[in-house]
Amino acid sequence: MRIAMIGGGYVGLVSGACFAEFGTEVAVVETDPAKLAALQAGDIPIYEPGLEAIVRTNTAAGRLTFGADLAAAVRGAQAVFIAVGTPTRRGDGHADLTYVYEAARQIAGVAEDGVVIVTKSTVPVGTGREVARIVRECRPALQFSMASNPEFLREGSAIGDFLRPDRVIIGVEAPGEPQSLAAEQVMRALYRPLYLIETPIVFTGLETAELTKYAANAFLAMKVTFINEMADLCERVGANVHDVARGMGLDQRIGRRFLHPGPGYGGSCFPKDTRALTAIAADAGAPTRLIETTIAINEQRKLAMAERIVALAGGDVAGLRIGVLGLTFKPDTDDMREASSIPIIRALAAQGAEIRAYDPEGMAQAKPLLPEQVQYCAGALEAAEGCDVLVVLTEWNQFRALPPDRLADAMRGRTVADLRNIWDPNAMRDAGFTYSSIGRS
Ligand code: UDX
Repeated sequence: MRIAMIGGGYVGLVSGACFAEFGTEVAVVETDPAKLAALQAGDIPIYEPGLEAIVRTNTAAGRLTFGADLAAAVRGAQAVFIAVGTPTRRGDGHADLTYVYEAARQIAGVAEDGVVIVTKSTVPVGTGREVARIVRECRPALQFSMASNPEFLREGSAIGDFLRPDRVIIGVEAPGEPQSLAAEQVMRALYRPLYLIETPIVFTGLETAELTKYAANAFLAMKVTFINEMADLCERVGANVHDVARGMGLDQRIGRRFLHPGPGYGGSCFPKDTRALTAIAADAGAPTRLIETTIAINEQRKLAMAERIVALAGGDVAGLRIGVLGLTFKPDTDDMREASSIPIIRALAAQGAEIRAYDPEGMAQAKPLLPEQVQYCAGALEAAEGCDVLVVLTEWNQFRALPPDRLADAMRGRTVADLRNIWDPNAMRDAGFTYSSIGRS
């Protein structure tokens, strides 16, 4: 099989590389010259564990290629995936579909009969149908079928998520009807290796597939926000949020994952997708008030975290030196999009704190987003050097193993705000710290 992947960003690159790993020939189209040159040279522009190896093997095997020429990639492809960016449009919270529709027009011009056009980016409900309409308008004679195949991978574990997903959702124009048979057959063939590991592959209508993706992300964002609120309550009433989460999560209807409290969710998906879903729902006259509230609570939480640090520091951080461990929105990524560290550090710096920061992968991405005066350090202990307060914002594994006595030696003060609960409260208190974490007393 041969497919084209339009867009070499996170989703396009990971999906392209993984489809190649499944044995398919994949031509990735990337129009940003700098990104393309890097990809062609074997440099992966993002940090994602395992991605580089999989790209290298499949490029060497000739199954994975990168180019700027959409026509060359699409000609002869049995499926064309649209995996271009869908940023939040300014003003109304809707996803900006300019790139998706532009890709649709270009694909229409060059695709061959029998092709399946697939949206892979997360797109608003109705986009698949609109893409199909645009293609038909541009080239009425082209025989093609339309599919929506949202991607559920998480950054940091993207390869595993793609190769061993919980499920695959595939929307087609008319499920089970002759006009969508080609789409169903091609998609089944592409995901063939997953049938061997008994992954549920669910065929639905286009709109259902599109909405499923938003519903899943919104639900997870809500789950995280729920446990964050429970954590705040735990602190007030002397309960332990981890035990509450475990006790709740052992109920299989709830499930244990995504009940880890923290400084608010971030990343490229939850904030964008929750905003897009509320905009879609409001337009459709069926507002999703739970999600609207989730968004508001999460925004507020990031600022509340800065206030918590200030309170811990005695009510005033002016002139204090604050060490920050972790900047990215979660570990095992260099992604800084919507990271809680941004509003938290901005607030602390605005109140006159001196900030020393360390992140294993995210510092280059962080620099343009954080105040100029932030000092970047070569390691965690260096960031802690001479600090009055130490703050943990991302739960990188390497921070878990830092010996409390080494931290104490490095620091000037003894205050620690562990906003990801990576350390044991007793061990930290034994080491002489005033230790504050989330949802446990
Ligand atoms: C998410 C979805 O999980 C994935 O299915 C979708 O395709 C894209 O969006 P990702 O953005 O990579 O993936 O990160 P995820 O691991 O889901 O974490 C999102 C945010 O929630 C992070 O800021 C993380 O720190 C936070 N989080 C997650 C918590 O605070 N607690 C948790 O228990 C889980």
